[in-house]
Amino acid sequence: MTHPPMAPTTPLPIARETGELRAAITAWRAEGLRVGLVPTMGALHDGHLSLVRLALEKADRVVASVFVNPTQFGPTEDFAAYPREESSDATKLARAGANLLYTPAVETMYPEGFSTTVTVDGVSRGLCGDRRPGHFQGVATVVTKLLMRCLPDVAVFGEKDYQQLQVLKRLALDLDIPVEVLGAPIVRETDGLAMSSRNAYLSPEERDVAPTLNRTLRRVAADILGGADVSDCLEWGMGELLKGGFSSVDYLELRDATTLTPLDEAPEGEARLLVAAKLGKTRLIDNIAL
Ligand code: PAJ
Repeated sequence: MTHPPMAPTTPLPIARETGELRAAITAWRAEGLRVGLVPTMGALHDGHLSLVRLALEKADRVVASVFVNPTQFGPTEDFAAYPREESSDATKLARAGANLLYTPAVETMYPEGFSTTVTVDGVSRGLCGDRRPGHFQGVATVVTKLLMRCLPDVAVFGEKDYQQLQVLKRLALDLDIPVEVLGAPIVRETDGLAMSSRNAYLSPEERDVAPTLNRTLRRVAADILGGADVSDCLEWGMGELLKGGFSSVDYLELRDATTLTPLDEAPEGEARLLVAAKLGKTRLIDNIAL
């Protein structure tokens, strides 16, 4: 069977300098258009593209940024190895309907003498905040800069990085940044594994084990909702992950969905079950609502 050729997509305009970004946004604003921003670190998959689609429902024009942000990686983390795929990212963004790719160089984001950081207390504590010191400060700083450079009406982030989403909501609120910070649902592979640029690091054997993360989360959530003791359920879940082939579990915790305060009893309001675990060298995270 022959397939018809894919519809050609117009190449996506790319801005590397802040001046180019501002010129495009100023022109849209002059037409009275609403602007959306989707910050990413590239190596885009359907999870990222779902954010672009959601942004297009909330805004007339969407800027996607691709910037592998050095300040959010720890010294032993994968900054150098992080996949960089600009031309395929641009094609995917164009197909998803984005209007501009903003991809600044590290030197324009952090020029000589750069001295300011943004720290969000409270929600940054615990979970990934404890395991990745400085990570949320790096994220909060770069996202503040992206928001200031773009001044969007709406910025969309994935629930995949649930703690990050709460940090950024708090940041916009506390610093009076006039932007709506929106969360988008996690996009998963058919076997339940949350899509992630880091899934590319998994060996075929590790990829077979990876869906255990989401399966275990769902089972623990169901048990907690069924009235089982929270700490017993969490302990059981960690054991399941280790038995299933994960090399270590950074955390498996039940938290308030907004403040991220730890919960040791079945929730009365909205709660989130969050997990981070290592499969060989690759650290995977996931979470679900209760
Ligand atoms: P990155 O890991 O590239 O993710 C960019 C955005 O895509 C984040 O908001 C993330 O939560 C979302 N995302 C990733 N996988 C997803 C999935 N499977 N379903 C739904 N959304 C998903 O997160 C970052 O980059 C950076 O920290 C950034 C915010 C860009 C700051 O540098």
